[in-house]
Amino acid sequence: MNIAIVGPGAIGILFTTMLSKAGQNVCLLDHDKQRVDFISKNGITVDSKDKTYNYQVKITDKAGDLQDIDLFIICVKSYDTKDAAMSIKPVLKDSSLVLTLQNGLGNIEIISEILGQERVIGGVTNQGANVISHGKIRHAGFGDTVIGKTDSKIPAYLRDIREVFNKAGIPTRISKDIRALIWSKLIINVGINALTAITHLKNGQLLEYEGTRNILCQAVSEAMKIVKRKRIKLIYDDAIEKTEAVCEATAQNISSMLQDVLKKRKTEIDYINGAIVKQGQSLGIHTPVNSILMDLVKSIEASYNKTVCDKEG
Ligand code: PAF
Repeated sequence: MNIAIVGPGAIGILFTTMLSKAGQNVCLLDHDKQRVDFISKNGITVDSKDKTYNYQVKITDKAGDLQDIDLFIICVKSYDTKDAAMSIKPVLKDSSLVLTLQNGLGNIEIISEILGQERVIGGVTNQGANVISHGKIRHAGFGDTVIGKTDSKIPAYLRDIREVFNKAGIPTRISKDIRALIWSKLIINVGINALTAITHLKNGQLLEYEGTRNILCQAVSEAMKIVKRKRIKLIYDDAIEKTEAVCEATAQNISSMLQDVLKKRKTEIDYINGAIVKQGQSLGIHTPVNSILMDLVKSIEASYNKTVCDKEG
C-alpha cells in the first residue's frame, strides 16, 4: 500500500517506522525542511521497551512529492488539521483514503469538509509514544488502534487497512461506532491533559492530591452531561473510574498537553476542554470547570514569552 503520513509528531513517526519496516511504501510529510534533512540523513531512532533501533524512512517537505497515495494518515495537532488537509488536496487521487489518528473533537468534520466525507476514516490509537529529539522517539506503550466510518459501514478497504496495520505489529480493529471511541478518548483527555499542563504533574500524580482529584472528577462529570444529552454510548461504564485507571496505567507519562506547555508550544486545549465548553454552550449545559481549565491553559500559552519577573511586574 502507498501510504503518506502527515505530521512528524510521535505517532506519525512511530507509524511511519512500523509500516515501512513491514514493507509498505511509506513517506512522511513534514513542513520543517531542517528536520526533513536531518531525518533523511540520520533516519528514525525508536527507543522501545527492550531495544533501540534505527530505521531509514522516506520523508519530504513537499506535498507535491506524494503521488499515487492510497492512504493518507493525518497525525498533526488538531489546530493544524485544516492546513494539513489543504496541503494534500491537490495530490489526492479519486480512490485516496484519509485516516485521522488525532486527539480531540472536530477533526473528522474539518477533513470531510475539505476532502469529502466519503474518503474519510476516523481512528483512535492508544499507542504511546513521545518525541525525545529530532527523529528520535520513545515507544512507551503498545495499546490498540481502532478505525471506522462515521456512517457505521465497513467497506472492504477498512479490512485491508486493518490487515496492513496488524501485519506491521500495530494491533488494530474496526468499530461500527467510531464516534463513541473518539468521545471515549476525549473524556479521558478532558480529565487529564489540561490539569497536568497547569500543575506540571505526571498523569499518575493527579490522583495523589485531593485538589487535582476533585477537579479531574468535576471536569469529567461535566463532559458526561454532554455525552448523555447526545446519547453517545461510551466504551466504558464509569468515566471517572476509567480516567483514574488511565492515570494509573500511564502514571509516569508526561501528557501530550504538558509536553506542549514545557516546550512552549500551542496546545490542543480548544479541541479538548474547549470542545466541551463549546458543546455545552450549544446544548445549554453549564461547564464551568472546563471553562476555567481552558482559560488557564490559554493564559499559560499567552504568557510563554514572559519571564517570571515580567509576570510578577
Ligand atoms: O494526550 C495524552 O497524553 C494521552 O492521550 C493520555 C491518555 C492522557 C496519556 O498521557
